[in-house]
Amino acid sequence: MMQVVTAQGVNEAAQYIKERISVQPQIGLIMGSGLGVLGEHLENAVVIPYDQIPHFPISTVEGHAGELMIGMLSGKPVVLMRGRFHMYEGYGPELTAFPVRVMKALGVSSLLVTNAAGGINLHFASGNLMLISDHINLTGKSPLIGPNEESFGPRFPDMSEAYSTRLRKLAMEVAKEEDISLQEGVYVGLLGPSYETPAEIRMLRTLGADAVGMSTVAEVIAARHAGLEVVGLSCISNMAAGILDQPLSHSEVMETTERVKSQFLGLVTSLIAR
Ligand code: 6GU
Repeated sequence: MMQVVTAQGVNEAAQYIKERISVQPQIGLIMGSGLGVLGEHLENAVVIPYDQIPHFPISTVEGHAGELMIGMLSGKPVVLMRGRFHMYEGYGPELTAFPVRVMKALGVSSLLVTNAAGGINLHFASGNLMLISDHINLTGKSPLIGPNEESFGPRFPDMSEAYSTRLRKLAMEVAKEEDISLQEGVYVGLLGPSYETPAEIRMLRTLGADAVGMSTVAEVIAARHAGLEVVGLSCISNMAAGILDQPLSHSEVMETTERVKSQFLGLVTSLIAR
């Protein structure tokens, strides 16, 4: 089978980045739609457009190609992705997860992923923030398909603690301290790009999902394969189909994200500090 992502490709990308930075990032950050502005809070930031990094995929939806930012946030050296790769854009799961492997090669040991998601749990409301306790991968895809690259991780990685218990406790503590209300639940990842039907949402609720989105699962699988500790946060940007008597739209997703952005970014910033 053709391998799209090789250890050499990852190392070449990491090498290109290493030559341009002076601190080794400890924490990787993947910011969901509308949350990339966190990049503006980085100190001593080095900005590298994706299209300059060898082998890096280029993002198609958000108007610009995307960029990697390396700098200090809350006193910690971080690497932040502004713009991520979704499988609905046509990227295979291994390209979606490529930046995670590059982060690992840069020396990152933990990964914070954020996304916008639809609420399935009837106790949720749009604008809620949710700590991801676990995920269900319903994309039908995995970044680990194909011959296993042993230098990335094991053939059959354990996923019993996909989202670190330690970091989840910490996130809950930080939320409490900052007086930010934080729901907790299971994120189900689908391919998209259409939103789900009401029947699909009822099915997903029965399966144990609290929120639904089109990102995150491939990245987290690659992160766990690489031994990174993961913490995930969803912004419930809207309730999923069939719950409220209104159609779903991307503009609602963006509007809600905009509304809770400062709270969301405050939580992320405090969590990084800890
Ligand atoms: Cl309702 N579904 C999916 N798949 N992704 C979303 C969403 C819903 N709301 C925001 N992102």
